[in-house]
Amino acid sequence: MNGYLTGFLNNFATEAVPGALPVGRNSPQRPAYGLYAEQFSTSAFTMPRVQNRRSWLYRMRPMAEHRPFVPVDLAPRLASGPFTHEPVSPNRLRWNPLTLPEGPVDWVEGLVTYAGNGDVGCGAGIGIHLYAANRSMERRVFQSSDGELLIVPQMGTLHITTEMGRMEVPPGYIALIPRGLRFAVMLDGPSRGYVCENYGAPFQLPDLGPIGANGLANPRDFETPVAWYEDSEDEHEFIQKFQGRMWRTVLDHSPFDVVAWHGNTAPCRYDLSRFNTIGTVSFDHPDPSIFTVLTSPSEIHGTANCDFVIFPPRWMVGEDTFRPPWFHRNVMSEFMGLVHGIYDAKEGGGFEPGGASLHNQMNGHGPDAETTRKAMNAELAPFKIDGTLAFMFESRWVIRPTAAAMALPGLQDDYDACWEGFPKAQLPR
Ligand SMILES: [Fe+2]
Repeated sequence: MNGYLTGFLNNFATEAVPGALPVGRNSPQRPAYGLYAEQFSTSAFTMPRVQNRRSWLYRMRPMAEHRPFVPVDLAPRLASGPFTHEPVSPNRLRWNPLTLPEGPVDWVEGLVTYAGNGDVGCGAGIGIHLYAANRSMERRVFQSSDGELLIVPQMGTLHITTEMGRMEVPPGYIALIPRGLRFAVMLDGPSRGYVCENYGAPFQLPDLGPIGANGLANPRDFETPVAWYEDSEDEHEFIQKFQGRMWRTVLDHSPFDVVAWHGNTAPCRYDLSRFNTIGTVSFDHPDPSIFTVLTSPSEIHGTANCDFVIFPPRWMVGEDTFRPPWFHRNVMSEFMGLVHGIYDAKEGGGFEPGGASLHNQMNGHGPDAETTRKAMNAELAPFKIDGTLAFMFESRWVIRPTAAAMALPGLQDDYDACWEGFPKAQLPR
C-alpha cells in the first residue's frame, strides 16, 4: 500500500531514500547520490506567499533531458479552449453515459471533450472531458501543460503513478494533478469518469466565512502520496498536451525517477465521503454553493473560474420547505455528472451514472415534473438522501458544448420533456 501525507497545500517533505532530501537548502552544489534538483512551479514566482505554489524535486536525471516533441494524433476527441468555433446553445442538454470501448483504449486515448470555455493561451477557463478506457498506460506518460486536472472516477479504480508518488483513486474519490506534472494511469478493467482541465488559478479550498474554522472539505482529509521512484532504462513514450495539441517524444528511461521532494504543489486525492455536508436545520435550503469542495477563483472576486460542487448523501429536515433543488436561472453555467445513485432533482430518470448535463447561463432548470409533484405532496419528516453522489463543474463563463459532444449518440433529444406536464397554478376567481 502506498503511503500518504495529509493536508491541503501543506509544505510537505518526503524521501524514498534516506538522506536524499537536502536539509536547510533547496539547491546544494552536489545533492546527495548525484541527484539533480529541479524546481516545479505551478504559480508565478512572484505570487503572494499565500498563493505561491512550488516544490523542489530531486531526481536521477534532469527532466530537461529529452529529444524534441513532435505533434501526434492521439486522443482525437480531446479539445481545448478557445471553444469559440464550437457551437453554443441556450438549450438544456443531457447525455447518456459514454459507451465503453471494445478495442484497447488507455486513459489518455479515451478522453472526449464535452464542453469548455476560456482559452488555454490566456490561462482562463476550463475544458470538461469524459473518459472511457480499458487498458493501462503502461510506459506511456502524460502531462497537461494547459491545465491542472481534477479527475472524478465513476467506474473503475485509477492507479495513478506520478513523478511525486503513487495514488489509488476509486470512484467516490477525486484526484488533483497539478499542471505540468507527469503521470500514468493504470486500470483494473473498464473505467469511466470525468475530468475538469482547469486552465485558470489552481483549485483551492473555499473560504468558510460565518461557517467558521471547520466544515465542508477539511484540509486534513486531502492525501498526497509519499515520494516513490523507479530506476528503469525502459523506453517511455512521453505525451504532452500543449496549447490544445498533443506532442510526443520518447525517453530512454522512466520519468518517475524523483527520489525525494518537498514543497506545496503536489498531486492529491480526496475521499468525497469525508465532505462535511452542511444544510438547513430550519427552513429553505442554502444555495448549492454550500456544497463547494474546491474553487478556482476568477479575477472577479466572488466568482469562480470553476467551482467543484458535490451533492452527497445528506439529511433533509427543512420544515415547510420545497426540499429538492429549486427552479432557478443563474449567471453561472453548470455542467453536471453523476458518480452513482439518483440525483435528487431528477427522480423521473434519464440522468444516469456516467451521464452528464449542461445548464447554461440564465436558462431555467431545476427538478423534473415527477420530483416536483412528489416534493409538493410529501409528508415532511426527516429524510436521508442516500446512496448517491452527483457533482457539478460550475463556471462564470458560458460552457460551450463541442461539436463532437453534440454529435454523440448519447445526446438526448428529449431532455426538455422532463419539465413538461406541470399543473398550472389555480388563482382565486
Ligand atoms: Fe443549477
